Amino acid sequence: MKTLTVDLPGRSYEIQMERGVLAHAGERCRSVLPRAEKLFVVTDTHVAPLYLERVRGSLERAGFTVAVRTVPAGESAKCVEELSALWEEMMAFGLTRTDAVAALGGGVVGDLAGFAAATVLRGVDFVQIPTTLLAQVDSSVGGKVAVDLKAGKNLAGAFWQPKLVLMDPETLDTLPQSTFMEGMAEVVKYGCIKDAAFFDFLEERPGRAALMADMEHILYTCCDIKRNVVEQDERDTGERMLLNFGHTLGHAYELAGNYARWSHGDAVSAGMCAAARLGERLGITSAGTADRLERVLAALGLPTRIVCAPEQYAAAIGLDKKGSGHAISVILLEEIGRAVRHPMEKDALLEELR
Ligand code: NAD
Ligand code: GLY
Repeated sequence: MKTLTVDLPGRSYEIQMERGVLAHAGERCRSVLPRAEKLFVVTDTHVAPLYLERVRGSLERAGFTVAVRTVPAGESAKCVEELSALWEEMMAFGLTRTDAVAALGGGVVGDLAGFAAATVLRGVDFVQIPTTLLAQVDSSVGGKVAVDLKAGKNLAGAFWQPKLVLMDPETLDTLPQSTFMEGMAEVVKYGCIKDAAFFDFLEERPGRAALMADMEHILYTCCDIKRNVVEQDERDTGERMLLNFGHTLGHAYELAGNYARWSHGDAVSAGMCAAARLGERLGITSAGTADRLERVLAALGLPTRIVCAPEQYAAAIGLDKKGSGHAISVILLEEIGRAVRHPMEKDALLEELR
């Protein structure tokens, strides 16, 4: 087993990574939830048939009384209606403030269950059991939880750190290829912003089988970077913004594809390439970085260029919103392994992107 500790004042927790650990979820949860009698598990319709019984059996053997809500798979479940249904079911189950919530699934389930845990009874303990690559390297760590509103993604949320993050790399074997590679976009991002040697390591492993052979190392490296960033800036006012490398322009591509044509991972992949090209044009990113990044992402089957209209770039950088300020911090690379926040006038940025 590999373990990391996210060290936050009064809210520290472990990230445990181990093949086969789902079958031991009960004892691991028990060690961080010594007083809980009830555990409310949230999962989705793809994950439940694959992993729910294994986890439920282990939780029950550890003495928890378990209730489960299985939400429809996909982003549409991260909504106020599902949140409200969760609250009501938690109350019908008789959840108390010493009980807890567990998320078994990808980032959608983690964000939804986490926000329900943050808000029900003014906050109950919460365990993340992430089953997608994106959730294991990113969304399960750091305490951002949210639901989507009609006005946009993640607009109602909280910072609510889990008591434990328990990840089993074997769950990644059942991911569709596209979902696995969407997670890889975030993995490559960590190399870009913080760890050149990790980027080299990924460059030498362009296929899923080679990546899976070293998955513990990959999960550990990504989670260690995220842990470090979150410890410095839990509330996302400085250092944590570096994690948004590729995401602002990526948002424009998600908009361009109406949130259907391009997945988040696809959009981040092309967004990172666009940011690298922008950085080179501005003389901030060392020459050749964009080409190298494009080669690595293309080898993973991820898009490196997405066509986007100026209006979509304007919406993504907030230029279309009155009163949202004239400047923006763009995340750029100085070189692979070193990201910086680069303040720019929004009009100038839009001009650069044309
Ligand atoms: P997801 O949760 O929708 O999972 C993707 C698909 O994989 C779903 O169909 C799911 O049912 C399926 N799945 C999950 N585990 C599986 C497994 N082991 N085998 C087979 N299928 C499996 O999406 P995601 O990419 O995991 O997460 C995306 C969400 O995460 C978005 O809502 C995004 O906003 C959020 N997010 C949050 C943070 C954060 O810090 N909280 C960070 C990044 C992304
Ligand atoms: N996924 C970005 C963050 O957690 O801040």
